[in-house]
Amino acid sequence: MYPQNNDEMNNEYINNETEATVYAGEENFESTDEVITNIYNEKIGEESDEPEKDNILVCDGLVKIYKTDDVEVLALQGLELEIERGELVAIIGKSGSGKSTLLNMIGGLEKPTAGRLYVDGNDLFAMSEKGLVEYRRKSVGFVWQNSGQNLFPYFTALQNVEAPLYFDHMSQKARREKAMGLLKMIGIDHRANSYPAQMSGGEQQRVAIAVALAHDPKILLADEPTGAVDSKTSNMIQDIFRKINEEIGITIIIVTHDLSLANKVSRVIMISDGKISTEKIMKEKYRQQLDNMTTESLAAVESHEEYSILDKARRVQLSQDALEMAGIDSNKVRVEVKDGKIIISK
Ligand SMILES: Nc1ncnc2c1ncn2[C@@H]1O[C@H](COP(=O)(O)OP(=O)(O)O)[C@@H](O)[C@H]1O
Ligand SMILES: [Mg+2]
Repeated sequence: MYPQNNDEMNNEYINNETEATVYAGEENFESTDEVITNIYNEKIGEESDEPEKDNILVCDGLVKIYKTDDVEVLALQGLELEIERGELVAIIGKSGSGKSTLLNMIGGLEKPTAGRLYVDGNDLFAMSEKGLVEYRRKSVGFVWQNSGQNLFPYFTALQNVEAPLYFDHMSQKARREKAMGLLKMIGIDHRANSYPAQMSGGEQQRVAIAVALAHDPKILLADEPTGAVDSKTSNMIQDIFRKINEEIGITIIIVTHDLSLANKVSRVIMISDGKISTEKIMKEKYRQQLDNMTTESLAAVESHEEYSILDKARRVQLSQDALEMAGIDSNKVRVEVKDGKIIISK
């Protein structure tokens, strides 16, 4: 029988031995609405006073299958990822783990086989073709590994940064000022009149970052930006990403196989076999010291705390190392909860 009024409904909850009894029996008696809200929050594991996250990017079960002749490659296997506005993250994984596929998808260059990708709450691949073109042109900036891909060889550094602004109804003077301002911010304005061939790899990459920022994108995407430079230059480029992230608050996603990058960003996401495996969050104390440390001392300090990622189906990926250390050599494991901890053993 359904309850006819509020009183009866409250009684239903009290009389039934459900979770509701717990709430209704508490000192301050709550209204039916509150009881239901509490049960709901409890069920989905939400803290009601948890601050709302401002996610600029949400990847929801992204799958990408490449078909070539008769082979199928599963480049992304239901990848889940959330990135908050203003974050600087590094996605690190071995060659072939799906990094470029993911980055190209975020850039709107590649469509997923299944799953959804939300940028600023909008379903990217539900957009019209025109909307997607606009998105690629305005909302994202790309920096590639190979500076040849980033710069026009027959333009100077300054002209390269001005180029994306030609379509933006700006006066020539405003365009020039903006481009110069960006080169200054990146610390490469002394090369404004040089052609790419006259610059070092590191200098070209710095110009490429200025080019990618020219149209004020919301997200800066960098695919192995330090892959073709020496470690000193790589360090300098990493510092530039950190600086622009702090100064203009732009969200930056860098994908790389270069582990040294992990020391310079607050959030490191490890990708393997087309899925996020673990995440490392930089310790606050380390972050505060970062500006005063040399590369050598950086390597010596434990910078991050490592977390494994539970996917939507509550699955977790275990590393081969962890399995070996625990002596687990078959596909059957014991899972038990002890003292509030989950223990996985042979
Ligand atoms: N256009 C493509 N056609 C077929 N297979 C591809 C294509 N692009 C990537 N792959 C495959 O998908 C997997 C992931 O590739 P990729 O995203 O480039 O990895 P990463 O950037 O981490 O090296 C690899 O096995 C790669 O060979
Ligand atoms: Mg790649």
